[in-house]
Amino acid sequence: MSNDKTPRTPQEYEILTGGGAENAELARKSLSRRQFLRTGVGVGLGIFGAEAVALGLTFIYPFVTGSFGGKIKLSKKSNYPAALPQDFDMENGKGVFYESLAQSYIVHLAADTPWLMSGQQLADTLASEWIVQDSDGTFWLAIWQRCVHLGCKFNFNTDCHSFKCPCHGSHYNVDGEWLSGPAPRSNDRFQINVSGDTVVVDTGKLNNRTQHPSPTTLLLTELQVQFKCQ
Ligand code: FES
Repeated sequence: MSNDKTPRTPQEYEILTGGGAENAELARKSLSRRQFLRTGVGVGLGIFGAEAVALGLTFIYPFVTGSFGGKIKLSKKSNYPAALPQDFDMENGKGVFYESLAQSYIVHLAADTPWLMSGQQLADTLASEWIVQDSDGTFWLAIWQRCVHLGCKFNFNTDCHSFKCPCHGSHYNVDGEWLSGPAPRSNDRFQINVSGDTVVVDTGKLNNRTQHPSPTTLLLTELQVQFKCQ
């Protein structure tokens, strides 16, 4: 007994109907229609899936836009509370924040940060190290996650209140200044711009010229001893 829902090849249709080329062609077209419908449903599901992924990424990165190699607009400023170096805590969002899209640690230092220099010397050093002062007196810095020794990704160690590289132990202060280890200079940093409530990191502009600090050019004291960092 025939079953209309059973797909048949043109050859089967020809045998069952005793038809010739015309019936076979009709069967072939019927199969093509089914294949077309299946393909259409597949494409539709694919588009739906892509949109669902895009929506999910919007939730993961609710405000961060752009792509690495260019300008990346970060979340609004209030999502990056400033802190003094000794209060930096990445897990609890104080002073230091990781932005994967920018491959950067965003550092936001309080207005009363105890810099070791002042006046024009401080202004010149901050400018040369791409540390930007905001209109509220706080300071911003975008440190590239790539260790300047051999390129490993380093981490912020909240217990040490500083950055530590897991590969060969290079150690950097909260402002990216070299403290110890084989790294040949301080951390590289991207250009960061703050205006109104907007923070933009330009990952196409890299400052890789910050040398090891000397006792006269050091910006911040090392907290390693104070916090017994290993
Ligand atoms: S790559 Fe970081 S210390 Fe060697």
